[in-house]
Amino acid sequence: MAVEEIWWKEGIVYQIYPRSFKDTSGNGIGDLRGIIEKLDYISSLGVDIIWLNPIYDSPNDDNGYDIRDYRKIMSEFGTMEDFDELLAGMKSRNLRLVMDLVVNHCSDEHKWFQESRKSRENPYRDYFHWWPAEKGTPPKRWSYFDVEENAWQYDEKTDAYYLHYFAVKQPDLKWENPKVRQEVYDMMHFWFKKGVDGFRMDVIPFISKDTTYPEIDAQEPHEFISYYANGPKVHEYLNELNREVISKYDAFTVGEGPGIAREDALDFVHEDRKEMDMFFHFDLMSLDRAPGEVFKMRQGGWKLTEFKKIFNDWDTAFAKAGWGSLFLANHDFPRSVSRWGNDSPEHWHNSATLLQTFLLTMRGTPYFYQGDEIGMTNVKFTDIEDYRDINTINRYETVKQRGGDLNAFMESEQHAARENARTPMQWDDTINAGFTNSEPWIKLNPDYKDGVNVKSQEKDKYSILNYFRKITELRKKNKVLVYGDYHCIYPEHDKVYAYTRTLEAERFLILLNFSDEIERFTLPVNITYNRKIKLISNDKILDDKTFKEFALRPWQAVVYKLEH
Ligand code: GLC
Repeated sequence: MAVEEIWWKEGIVYQIYPRSFKDTSGNGIGDLRGIIEKLDYISSLGVDIIWLNPIYDSPNDDNGYDIRDYRKIMSEFGTMEDFDELLAGMKSRNLRLVMDLVVNHCSDEHKWFQESRKSRENPYRDYFHWWPAEKGTPPKRWSYFDVEENAWQYDEKTDAYYLHYFAVKQPDLKWENPKVRQEVYDMMHFWFKKGVDGFRMDVIPFISKDTTYPEIDAQEPHEFISYYANGPKVHEYLNELNREVISKYDAFTVGEGPGIAREDALDFVHEDRKEMDMFFHFDLMSLDRAPGEVFKMRQGGWKLTEFKKIFNDWDTAFAKAGWGSLFLANHDFPRSVSRWGNDSPEHWHNSATLLQTFLLTMRGTPYFYQGDEIGMTNVKFTDIEDYRDINTINRYETVKQRGGDLNAFMESEQHAARENARTPMQWDDTINAGFTNSEPWIKLNPDYKDGVNVKSQEKDKYSILNYFRKITELRKKNKVLVYGDYHCIYPEHDKVYAYTRTLEAERFLILLNFSDEIERFTLPVNITYNRKIKLISNDKILDDKTFKEFALRPWQAVVYKLEH
């Protein structure tokens, strides 16, 4: 069956973390008018779709992932009028908008929860998961942001525990109650009627729970996560959500998919199942983490052969049905150039552009995170006082309470912390990098003074920013880069990642040197061609005169078109 061609497969996504994008109101927090101000810039990047992290009313215990009112704009970010203007500004530039859908949980300040906790008879009681205390202590559930890692919180008022897979202030919604599902669908219609083009669905596989809350056989966080992601009715609910809402619009959904195993991938995204269109798997994001752990770094780093295997396996999973999403970073993970490249001054430019080349020449929809286009790097805070993220702060407290090694924790956070990605966008080299004219909500990465900013890169023809524009254009002009078959050459090579993309008679060759040294590389005999045309490279070609042999500079990326 031929792959169906559709706009969200061809689109390039740019993710905006509004809190850190651009402040215009002078409160030190990014806002919607800041995004409006930068729409021409975003459009100049050659991206097509914007994914906005949550912008809804929230007490910000988890930066907007704890929603108090799904139909209201967070006051720090602006008003509904600002939103309407933003959306109109996007439409006039042919930019599509994807919103964040956070419905596994809401804020404990949401009206539903305020009511629910009042009495056991309250009409909203059954909107959440409650365990009456007379039944004893509920069976263990692990929680992401709880200091005691305990997902059950005792609530005195009604002498019962409520479930929260994330922070204490993020109670899980009870999807088993049809009224909850209807509320969610109505809210989605509200946003679709305004003209949004889709949703990124936060921890969506966690929505279905076994409401007997049995003992589960899990010790480590990742075992709990795979249990959470495989609730008894997850497919039924996704299917219903698709039928009731998504199918009525020209829209797409991308799920955040922690805990979804590759073997089960098509159950979520096969076209015939009508659930969601794509999802973010977590295999790559776990590659440099300690075994079984979600946040702790592993010793010894990662290997390119492992990295390739992840992409090879997932490409195979979606080669005939479904569709993949590609990302190297987002607001929950460290910066891509610091994590998968080399952010030292010597290799920063090439490795940042190599990673851009990689995402834009693979099969699947590519997602870039704000700042990737200028090679923003990890801030590596050394002082716990610099962190704002509940995840880092509460885990610090856990380690402290358990008498653990706080130095080791802080060291690991320098590489793993979510806030490496959340420091403000670097627009220029003036104070606060042009992000705000007052005190920013979080410290900036001081490297904005050293060329890691938009303004100085605008002026430089060879900057990371201007390379990004060229390579987005290359992808847009060549459907082979979107739909072409992917074939990895030498999966066992531990320095060079080389592959072809082929669509009918057209074939592209992509060579990426993931190392700090010059690498010589010989193509296998079965890759034949008469003539090659270099389409783009992030550095001067060292040697590609013969048909089979290539020399690549450190972190060099080259794309050729092969002709017969
Ligand atoms: C997702 C979000 C993350 C948030 C969590 C809880 O993982 O990406 O930022 O903290 O869900 O909503």
